[in-house]
Amino acid sequence: ESPKDNTEEKLQKICALLDQEISYFNWTGFYFKNGDKEELILGPYVGAPTDHTIIPYGKGICGQVAVSNETFVVPDVHEQDNYLSCSIDTKAEIVVPIMKDGQNLGQIDIDSHKVDPFTDEDREMLEWLCAEVAKIM
Ligand code: SME
Repeated sequence: ESPKDNTEEKLQKICALLDQEISYFNWTGFYFKNGDKEELILGPYVGAPTDHTIIPYGKGICGQVAVSNETFVVPDVHEQDNYLSCSIDTKAEIVVPIMKDGQNLGQIDIDSHKVDPFTDEDREMLEWLCAEVAKIM
């Protein structure tokens, strides 16, 4: 058994924990680079099912982070032109890349039903978390 075999399980638990602990995290999930393709594929998540199981690089908030390698905080999704709507309830979004050895492996994506809910502490916590996730990938 390889040590990476239970990574999916761990990521699922991380989603469940964040969803449970932070009231304004209303959809929490991971996207990962789909092999050699310039697209993201949906990984473990907690929240309403989404149509966006595959996202081309550059499209939406997630696709932009796949190319920018930078955290993207969106206080109000209605002000974004390049945005993929998953739910009409979503008001805000934060996407943090998972970087390992200079490569962008994927990201954590969180949607909120509240406008402008994400604090600097949320951002720092999620950036720390993504650095930890990179270590088990
Ligand atoms: N809103 C994202 C798409 C993913 S869903 O939020 C789960 C985007 O614009 O990339």
